[in-house]
Amino acid sequence: MPHPSSNQKDTESGLAGIMAGHTNICSLDETLRYRGYAVSDLVQCSFEEIAHLLLWGDLPTATQLEAFTGRIQHAAQSIPQTVVCCFQGLAETSPQTSIMDVLRTGVSLLGQLECDNGPKESPRAHDLSQERMKAEQLLGQVPALLATWIDCLRGESPSRWPNKPLAPALLEKLCHTKASNIATTVFNTTLILYAEHEFNASTFVARTVTSTGSDMHSGVTAAIGTLKGPLHGGANEKVLHQLMDIGVPENIEPWLARKLNDHEVVMGFGHRIYKTGDIRADLLGDACHRLIYSDSTYEKHQKLEKLAYKLEQLLFEKKELRPNLDWPAARVYHALGLPINLFTPLFVVARVSGWTSHIIEQMGNNRLIRPLAKYVGQAPRPYVSIEDR
Ligand code: SDX
Repeated sequence: MPHPSSNQKDTESGLAGIMAGHTNICSLDETLRYRGYAVSDLVQCSFEEIAHLLLWGDLPTATQLEAFTGRIQHAAQSIPQTVVCCFQGLAETSPQTSIMDVLRTGVSLLGQLECDNGPKESPRAHDLSQERMKAEQLLGQVPALLATWIDCLRGESPSRWPNKPLAPALLEKLCHTKASNIATTVFNTTLILYAEHEFNASTFVARTVTSTGSDMHSGVTAAIGTLKGPLHGGANEKVLHQLMDIGVPENIEPWLARKLNDHEVVMGFGHRIYKTGDIRADLLGDACHRLIYSDSTYEKHQKLEKLAYKLEQLLFEKKELRPNLDWPAARVYHALGLPINLFTPLFVVARVSGWTSHIIEQMGNNRLIRPLAKYVGQAPRPYVSIEDR
């Protein structure tokens, strides 16, 4: 009996539309909410307030925020020397290595140094505050890993992490100068909008790893590897390469025609869940516009904004496709003077808050994640010994 062709696109392909579990952390119905709060309200917060909301379940009081921010800063200021030495060696031998691989290696090394073997006893009995402490450590360590790598590439000893909230501290470390208020505010907005997004591919991987009883560092390491892919986190870097390829408005039509004729995807557009628009793209698109038209510093980026706007219009006309978060995020990071190969690593810095929150939620009410597969292979057949083959 012929089996359905294995390349038949059925509704479950990519688990599209499949409800794969429950979560208290994020909902995408009607609008994007973190723990019940609309993200359009949350963009006025600091990234630390959002990370606290995701990890602890509530927006912090001023006292809680100060303590939480201090713990994250302390973690950022205490990267083990073993990791620094490893990064210095890697920067010498393979300076071109993907920064996503550097973060994946760094988190894996931290897990090894901290002997993270996951929750000691069954999570139900297990006090998850130890896991929350690991999460807070990683919230500070991951951006510090990024800054350490950049220092190593420059042949410099890692400078001390600033006693500031994460957005101004990281921007100062990466740009080697104090950023303006509007630049810091818009950068902070990118971290909030990248923080969490329900069962996206990298988060689902983190939960799957943890559902076996494995540890948080293994879950985050696997999630970083997942986010690296251009259909997921890696899209934001490709967005800028695309805009650079197009260069001028008159190239948009032929460039897009070629893309669509070759059945290639346009990076920064489309979404598995959002078919009528990604609220995050709207919020960050407005912030991007405010930044770029804020003062003459960004004048040279206005040309790219106009190009982006024209491509957006044309792609909607041709395929009714709308931008996702990566579309404005790439332009914001570029306008802030950040190199393209830092864009997806910045997504990691923010998403560590979502990944670790989901890992803790999985640990707190765990069942091994093990879906079924529909067999579409060979029909049953008799064995043939090697002499008769
Ligand atoms: C993120 O899950 C999350 O929440 C992820 C994320 C998060 O916060 O974690 O939101 C972050 O990953 C955002 C997405 C970043 N990726 C990109 O920008 C890459 C480009 N986008 C596409 O690859 C695509 O839109 C996906 C992968 C994001 C979603 O694809 P789906 O849901 O599998 O949709 P599909 O491939 O079935 O496409 C349906 C149709 C197809 O046309 P037909 O074959 O039916 O004629 O739409 C077309 C696709 O070809 N299409 C695109 C397109 N996206 C969909 N065509 C051109 N360019 C695109 N970007």
